[in-house]
Amino acid sequence: IPVDPFDYIVFGGTGDLAERKLLPALYHRQISGQLSEPTRIIGASRSDLSDDAYRDFAKQALSEHLKEGEFQDDEVKRFLDRLHYVSIDASSDRGWDRLTTVLADGQDRVRAFYLAVSPSIFGKICERISSNGLINDNTRIVVEKPIGRDLATAHALNDTIGKAFAEEQIFRIDHYLGKETVQNLMALRFANALYEPLWNSAHIDHVQITVAESVGLEGRAGYYDRAGALRDMVQNHLLQLLCLVAMEAPTSIDAEAVRDEKLKVLRALRPIDDSNAAKLTVRGQYRAGASAEGAVDGYLEELGDETSNTETFVAIKAEIENWRWAGVPFYLRTGKRMAQRVSEIVINFKPIPHSIFSHGAGQIIANQLVIRLQPDEGVKQWIMIKDPGPGGMRLRHVPLDMSFAASFGGRNPDAYERLLMDVIRCNQTLFMRRDEVEAAWHWIDPILTAWEDSDQACQGYTAGTSGPTNAIALIERDGRTWHESR
Ligand code: BG6
Repeated sequence: IPVDPFDYIVFGGTGDLAERKLLPALYHRQISGQLSEPTRIIGASRSDLSDDAYRDFAKQALSEHLKEGEFQDDEVKRFLDRLHYVSIDASSDRGWDRLTTVLADGQDRVRAFYLAVSPSIFGKICERISSNGLINDNTRIVVEKPIGRDLATAHALNDTIGKAFAEEQIFRIDHYLGKETVQNLMALRFANALYEPLWNSAHIDHVQITVAESVGLEGRAGYYDRAGALRDMVQNHLLQLLCLVAMEAPTSIDAEAVRDEKLKVLRALRPIDDSNAAKLTVRGQYRAGASAEGAVDGYLEELGDETSNTETFVAIKAEIENWRWAGVPFYLRTGKRMAQRVSEIVINFKPIPHSIFSHGAGQIIANQLVIRLQPDEGVKQWIMIKDPGPGGMRLRHVPLDMSFAASFGGRNPDAYERLLMDVIRCNQTLFMRRDEVEAAWHWIDPILTAWEDSDQACQGYTAGTSGPTNAIALIERDGRTWHESR
């Protein structure tokens, strides 16, 4: 559905995110017919570039990051024509007059400022956007993580942004919420009558959420070493997934209804602190090993610092203290340089209460619902069936298999495509509200403190494996095992 013309102003317009994600995503939205004329994309950063030089930068970005066949000369030309550039400095007046003049042309349009820059300058940019009179009722601001590095800094950052913008104008991106399969979690749960009656501690034994990556630092050492896997992945992406799995049915798909329910889950998480962190959490750091590309360095060599104790892997046994989930562990794990890139949510149902079959029929394995977020997006419901044939009653564990690619074909749009347009449509459902971000930090902070207090080194794991042995022990102690994708 086309939307009215708008202006996207991308601070950090020449940066990595703009190059890899934002420009290609907006290009795809143009192909889908969503950018009506005269929609503009205005790159803003400190570099001294002309409009034409910025168009060259964007053309290069598209040629590198679009898939084969997606770079269509006519479309690219139309896209480049809508690009403009302003050389601007967050800390001085330089460039602000020019931005004001450029924007004066589109007074009535929706105007979205995207801050793809370090959070350390969010405050300065917001102040100047405000003092230059660039905010009206149609203005929104989009901010990327990290939103703080603990509760206090998140609070301060939210205050700073909140001085210039009202909460309904602030779009905090968690790109996992834009992934098709993550949105599908809501469809699966609330557009089917089948699962919801079983979706509780009476029928579910435990839940596993895995986000494994095969990549290492990818040139982001400076940021990553100060963050670590808990801040980089768990505080946002994994907790958001947990919320979507665990929340009560919202009364509608409206932003406030959904976010109210997610917030309740975050607030019900059982605290992990000095008293129980050693039992409920595992920290790992990769050592030299192998990946699909061949031999790879360990984290410390890649970083060039022998002393870092930053975790590149974390596993947590989380619990939600409410009626629905009491006693159902949520095992979370995420790591870099793992055996394969795979993100999935596994709902493990309870075993049958009594078997009518003889031993010879084989083992009856409890039902599992496996929601594969990426790659090979799909849903598998594992069930027991009778092995066909005259050989008597032999039972087998098989999947009802729904693969997105096989069922729908076509292109799987990148998360940013959906999210960038939701900003323009002013739909906050897939963005994090301030209280959600802060509730997540409220749970994460004591884990960070417990780790600092403990002085314990991260457990090493070989690159290209499924993480440290302590993570296996974390779940096997409870008589369960990590689901390995098949
Ligand atoms: C980002 C993290 O938020 O998510 C990265 O900062 C991580 O460290 C990335 O690699 C993973 O995203 P995706 O979409 O590739 O699973």
